[in-house]
Amino acid sequence: MKSYKIAALAGDGIGPEVMREAIQVLRAAAKKFGFTLTITEAPVGWAGIDAAGKALPDATLALCRNSDAILFGSVGLPDRDPTIPKEERPERAALLRLRKEFGLFANLRPVKLPAVLAHACPLAKERQGAGIDILVVRELTGGMYFGQPKKTEDLGGGHQRAIDTMVYTTPEIERIAHVAFKAAQLRRKKLTSIDKANVLENGILWREVVTRIGKNYPDVTLEHMFVDNGAMQLMLKPTQFDVLLCENMFGDILSDEAAALGGSLGMLPSASLGATTGNQTFGFYEPAGGTAPDIAGKNLAKPIAQILSAAMLLRQSFGENAAAAAIEAAVTAAINAGNRTGDIFSAHEVNAKRVGTREMGAAITAAI
Ligand code: IPM
Ligand code: MG
Repeated sequence: MKSYKIAALAGDGIGPEVMREAIQVLRAAAKKFGFTLTITEAPVGWAGIDAAGKALPDATLALCRNSDAILFGSVGLPDRDPTIPKEERPERAALLRLRKEFGLFANLRPVKLPAVLAHACPLAKERQGAGIDILVVRELTGGMYFGQPKKTEDLGGGHQRAIDTMVYTTPEIERIAHVAFKAAQLRRKKLTSIDKANVLENGILWREVVTRIGKNYPDVTLEHMFVDNGAMQLMLKPTQFDVLLCENMFGDILSDEAAALGGSLGMLPSASLGATTGNQTFGFYEPAGGTAPDIAGKNLAKPIAQILSAAMLLRQSFGENAAAAAIEAAVTAAINAGNRTGDIFSAHEVNAKRVGTREMGAAITAAI
């Protein structure tokens, strides 16, 4: 029997609640499809600071290194302890560190609006066309998030200067472009590359490199779009997009915008992948939404993004395609059966019942 090791890092806010449901779903899938999962939980984020004094405790990092894949919840509680310096806070010290540590340069965020959730999309029905189905490919270890120098300087006289540096090298753009073109080949074969080539040096290089890499993929139609126009086009005509290729920060912004089109940020899973060695790709899987501290611990969070992230894990890291598809089908079945967490609930829907985190998780588990 095949056997895999997963590090489960639930983190803060709603992380533990949605992780619990995802683990339950994973166990049901393993049982049905005949493989063994060793799932080990470890603290990260504020939970890591509370347990071991660090957002990414050494034992947690060691567990990640010894695992075949990481299932991550979410970290960061902006209102907690302002005396902890920004470099030690969970966003930078845990999440960005893990991305860098494992070389997770390719972030895939698939947005899909299920037909029955048309009401949860902020756009009028006629703009939704036959359905919204977009894959955001976000570069994850470069750009402004990591570029040096990155600091705040004192200028004297009560003034400060903050500096972030946007930097990309040719190889960094090439490898993410290959990921995006390959993804487009498996979809509707259209790639929209986002940049700001009218203003930024980075944008000019991005456009040049993506165009050159595109010559290797003649079956994929490539178009370029400035990021401001891209943000607008997502609202005006989201059905024109298949794969959206973005640098790190543009991808952060546009993937939240796209998630809203998909009905809710609570539906958006993500895979962050490193280089492939042989047929194994080490991956990190997390819902794209945050810790939602306002609803944490109240059985209100939607577990779907976490559960769909677990499905991506089974597919991308373990090649357990049938089990991944079964989880995705179970999510669809639970939604089609009328289960709605608050964010996708509408009183106008016939047969919709408002459920909590646990009930949604149970409905999905039962449908495996
Ligand atoms: C995301 C999040 C993170 C990011 C934050 C929490 C650092 O917004 O994964 O999209 O900006 O990358
Ligand atoms: Mg974000």
